[in-house]
Amino acid sequence: MVGVFYWSGTGNTEAMAQEVAAGIKAAGQDVELKSVSEISAEEAAKYDKLALGCADMGAEQLEEGEFEPWYTDLEKTISGKQVVLFGSYGWGGTWLDDWAERIKGAGASLVADPVAINGEADDDGKAKCQELGKALATA
Ligand SMILES: Cc1cc2nc3c(=O)[nH]c(=O)nc-3n(C[C@H](O)[C@H](O)[C@H](O)COP(=O)(O)O)c2cc1C
Repeated sequence: MVGVFYWSGTGNTEAMAQEVAAGIKAAGQDVELKSVSEISAEEAAKYDKLALGCADMGAEQLEEGEFEPWYTDLEKTISGKQVVLFGSYGWGGTWLDDWAERIKGAGASLVADPVAINGEADDDGKAKCQELGKALATA
C-alpha cells in the first residue's frame, strides 16, 4: 500500500494527488489518498512509500498552519522510507527544492525528482504526476 497525502487550498495540488494515485494504481499497487486533515502523521508514518504534496505558500514555503506541523511530526519517523514530492505554485516554485533537501536530511530516499506545476495541471502536467506515482510504486 502506497500513501498519497497532501495539503491543497484551492484544489490544484489535490488534482495532482489524484493523478499521482492513478499512476500508482496503474503500476499495480494499492493506494491510500488523503488530505492531511484526514490522516494523522502517526498513521501516515506506517507507510513505507509516501507521495507527499503541498502547495507553495507563505514565501516559498510549505503551508504553515496545517501542513508544516503535520510534516514536522512525520519527519521524525521518515528515515529509510521511499518518498516523492509534488505540488502547485503560483509565481516562484522553489519550495520543493528546499523540501527535497529536508527529506534527504531526514534520511529518507527521494526516488524521483519532485514535480512542481504552475497553477492547474494541464494534460502534460497530469502525465508527469502519473509518472511520479509509477516511479514510487515501482521503486
Ligand atoms: C497565502 C498564499 C501564499 C502563496 N505563496 C506563494 C509563494 O510564495 N510562491 C508561489 O509560487 N506561489 C504562492 N502562492 C500561490 C499558490 O501556490 C498557487 O495558487 C497554487 O496553485 C495553489 O495550489 P492549491 O490549489 O493546491 O492550493 C500562494 C498562494 C496563497 C493563497
